[in-house]
This record gives sequence, structure tokens and C-alpha cells, in this order.
Amino acid sequence: MCGIVGYIGKKNGAIPVIDGLKRLEYRGYDSWGIAAKDSGRIDFHKQVGKIGAFELAKDLPEFSGNICIGHTRWATHGGVTEANSHPHFSCDNKIAVVHNGIIENYQELRKNLEAKGHKFRSQTDTEIIPHLIEEKLKEKHNLPSAVRLALKDLEGSYAVGVISQDDDILIGARKGSPLVLGIGNGEFFLGSDVPAFLKYTNKVIFLDENQMAILDQKNQSYKIMDVNTNKQLNPEIATIEWSLDEAEKGGHPHFMIKEMLEQPYVIEKTISVEANELKKAASMIKSAERIYIVACGTAMHAGMYGAYIFALRNNLIVQTISAGEFPYFEHLISTNDLIITVSQSGETADVLEAVRSAHRSGAKVLSLVNVMGSSLMRMSDMFLLTKAGPEICVLSTKAYVSQQAMFVMLSATLAGDITAGKKILQIAKNDIAKILKLMSLDKIKKLAREIATVPNIYAIGRGVNYPSALEGCLKIKEVSYIHAEGFAGGDLKHGPISLIEPGVPVLAFVANDGSDKEILSNAMEVKARGARVIGISFENNQVFDEYFPVAANGVYTPISAIVYTQLIAYFIALEKKLDPDKPRNLAKSVTVK
Ligand code: F6R
Repeated sequence: MCGIVGYIGKKNGAIPVIDGLKRLEYRGYDSWGIAAKDSGRIDFHKQVGKIGAFELAKDLPEFSGNICIGHTRWATHGGVTEANSHPHFSCDNKIAVVHNGIIENYQELRKNLEAKGHKFRSQTDTEIIPHLIEEKLKEKHNLPSAVRLALKDLEGSYAVGVISQDDDILIGARKGSPLVLGIGNGEFFLGSDVPAFLKYTNKVIFLDENQMAILDQKNQSYKIMDVNTNKQLNPEIATIEWSLDEAEKGGHPHFMIKEMLEQPYVIEKTISVEANELKKAASMIKSAERIYIVACGTAMHAGMYGAYIFALRNNLIVQTISAGEFPYFEHLISTNDLIITVSQSGETADVLEAVRSAHRSGAKVLSLVNVMGSSLMRMSDMFLLTKAGPEICVLSTKAYVSQQAMFVMLSATLAGDITAGKKILQIAKNDIAKILKLMSLDKIKKLAREIATVPNIYAIGRGVNYPSALEGCLKIKEVSYIHAEGFAGGDLKHGPISLIEPGVPVLAFVANDGSDKEILSNAMEVKARGARVIGISFENNQVFDEYFPVAANGVYTPISAIVYTQLIAYFIALEKKLDPDKPRNLAKSVTVK
């Protein structure tokens, strides 16, 4: 939700900042804006819409400044207007602020500031920040102190970038929203995420909760302070191993297709996960009294798959809970429980809140997380890095496959046979590679073309393929805006079958795991009512109107089966001339509750 970027150095900062905003657009794309300080003056530009096609040299050739901040917005407070887009300014226009997060006490703060004569120009929660800083500056504090004191008044979450007309510094700070400091050669960068500045440096500091970075242009130095104690800190500098190429489209028209094509390689990475790490995680699972998997959206579907695998292969009862619903279970959690969280970004607010609540109850937290240095990684008692690489498309594809694969490795470790896990994943990897080669085949495109105009699509699966039905439909609805709903095959007769009418596409996921007879008879039931049955199955069957083959990999079949629905969703989006990387109303990282 919203991306922020900052630059301080000798260059025209607008260049890396615009570049960074384009890379962070997956975090929000309602509107964007930049502010730069050039010889004592702050200039700014704001625009409604995506930043994608904007070119600094052509569209705003005069705009420059060595200290620059930028923001790409996903609206929370206030509509999508130029006035509500960031940066926001103090009354005297000397302080400019970009912000990601939500200030919960902004109404009260705004009332107090208005009583002191401050005039507001937007409906955002963010705008109180520059006014608060302005107020602190009036009390004769220098800029870092004024920012620090202003931040202490805020309740809620923030990652901010602050510049001032009167100072040659850039300040960044975070609480609850991510912020990374990039350390270049005589220059510094701020970004909500590493790809924002990876082109310029791979040396980073992941700012921790309540930390503030003060970046000095003249001395080419940085200071990290604790916002609460005002003590100087000395955090570790990390080196990022992702290549820029991994974070870019690499010649593909969209990140979605690029990321889907990376899936065999992603599984390869999971196969090579450290045995010691797996054993440590497995021992946490073994010593837990009760185990809950907590995640959101796609990651939750991967968690559901994990719960089936634990039940079927390890005789473990594991409950999956959507992170947003976790607070209603908090009172049942106790010290001997284990919460397994799953998250691509490691910044999903509901997941982080569940971790805090688990810790309040004394439970341990094991996380499957993709982003190194993310809040979730740092808040967990233990984490396993899913190593899917940067996932930029708003739709999660390769991260899902890597999360499923990690559950397979964990289950194999629990069963004392890591090698078996590797073999299973090798089959899944080869099968995905095969499916992706078939990708160019007209069959998937033809199907996408034929179903792009239908109002409803359904999917059915049983056992391990129930999450496939849910995830397949989530992909389709997110990117094509077609109503798509997944059901457990056995649930059809309890209501949903009334939705079936002639011609409606129903995707049937079939695995050779002992559930095939039942799911095929569910497919018959919908076919008898006129549905067009699309089988994603280990073998063909006369009930299928179209058949997409997957390897017979038992309960592990879903890992490759899901790729078909990703491709179908992608091609429907193209058919409907929609941007698969940036579906409407969505943001990659949901940092609001
Ligand atoms: C769907 C999708 C979302 C995310 C969910 C959790 O394609 O991307 O449903 O899976 O918002 O995000 P993470 O995994 O970052 O916690």
C-alpha cells in the first residue's frame, strides 16, 4: 500500500526517484508525486493515474534537485485526487513529506493543529505530519528533533520521507510500514522495497521499528537513531543478492508472465533449502501442542495446502486461519502453540498483527516468507526464506508455488525423509516446465478467448485440490474481474450447484490421490446441468470438454496444476485488454488492516 522513494546526493535525484517509483508501482497506482530541493527551494509535481508512461526528460525537463522524495499512492484516506496525492506540505511549504501507512489519531491531531491556525489542503491522514513538524520547528528544534518529536505524536503506522527547504538532509523513518536505506557511493536512497534503488546499490540497511535515518548531503554520511530513545544505533549493512534482472521484466511484456516462467527455477531453489534450517523448523512443529497456519489471500491458500499435507502425510491436525480473522482466536492461543505464518511480502498488516498477538499469548512463530529483511522475518522466532525472488506483479504466482514447495519440504523433514521431498519437487518442477512450454500452444489462449466474456467461472477440487480451486479462482477474478468461485467438490450439492447453468465453465482439479472418483462424479453432476468442464487432471476423462494434463504426483499434483489457472487468468486479462500486473483496486503489499 503506497510506495515511497528518496534520494540524496550529487545527481538530479528526480531521475532515481522516478525510476524507483516505477518499480514500486505495484504497491499502489492511483496517483503519484515527487518533491525536490534545488538551491534552497522545494519544487513538486503531482499527477493522478499511473506513473508508467511518464518520462522526466520529456514530460518535466526542468524538474531537478539533489534531495528528492517521491510517492506512488493506494488511496486510504481521501479520494484519488491531485490534492490528496503526496508529497504533502507544511503551511509555509518548507517541509515536504511522503508517507506509507495509516495515522490512526490524525483526526484529533488535525483538530489541534487547525486550532493553532494550520490550514489543510487535503483529506489525507498524512498531511498532519508536515504540519506537526512545522509546529515543532517553531519550538526551536532542529529538523531531526522536530521530525522525531512529530513522529512520537503519531499513532498507527508509517514509513516516511521528509525534506526541508532549509536543510541539506533527507530523513526517513518507519514504524509498522517497511523502509530500506540504500547506501551508494556518496549518495543514499530510501525505498519501501529494495527494487526501488537496486539499480544503484545493493548495500542496504533494513530499518527496524521506530528507527529514523538522517542522511546528510554535505558530509555524505548517515545516522540511524531510535525515535523513542534518541540513541544512535549501528545496524548491520546487508548485501542484496537479487540481480536487477530478477527484479525487471527481462524482455517479457508483463511481470506476471515473467514470474510464472520462473517457477521451475523457484522450485529448484526450494529443493536446495538448508537441511539444518528445515530440521530446526520441524522440531518447532514437533514440540508444539497446537499448530495454526495464519496468512492472507494466496498465501493462505498455500497454508491450506500445507495443512492438508501435514494431515495426510504427517498425521498432524493443523488449523488454517485467515490472518484478518485471527484476533477472534487469540484468547485460545497459549505458550505451547505454534503459529506458522506464510507471506510473500512479509509486510501484510493482518499477518504482522497476528504475530504480535501470538507473541502476546506466549506462542512461537515460524514464518515462510519471501522478502529478506521484511518485518515478518524479523518478528518471527524462526523463518524459512521461500526464495521465489522479487515478485512484482500484484498477483502472486511464483510465491504461491514456492510456499507450497516449502510445505512439502517441511512435511518430508517431519517424516524424516528430506530426499523424498526433493524427488517430489523435482517431478513438480519438470511438470511445470512442461506446462510452461505448452504455454504457447493455442489451447490455453483459445480457452481464454472463449471464456473471457462469461459472467461466472467456477472451480472444484477435493482434499489437496480444494485450495487449488480457491487459488485458481482468486487468480481469475483478480486479473479479469470475472466472478470466479472455487468449491470443495463435496460442497456442490449443499447449495452452489444451483448456480450451474448451460455453458458455465467449471475447472475440475483431479489428482491421483484417491479422491479422483469423487471429484469426477462431481464433474459429472455439473456437466449434467450443462457446465463446460475443463479438466486439469493426471489423466483424461470423457467428462472433460477440454483436458489439460498434469503429472500423476499424488497429493503433490496441485503444485503444477495451479500453473494452468495462472496462465488462463493471464490470457483472459490480455484478451480483455487489462493490465495483468496492476489489477484495479489492488496493491501488492497490504500494509493496512
Ligand atoms: C493474490 C495476492 C494476495 C496476497 C495477500 C497476502 O494474488 O497476491 O492475495 O497473497 O495479500 O500477501 P503476502 O503474501 O505478501 O502476505
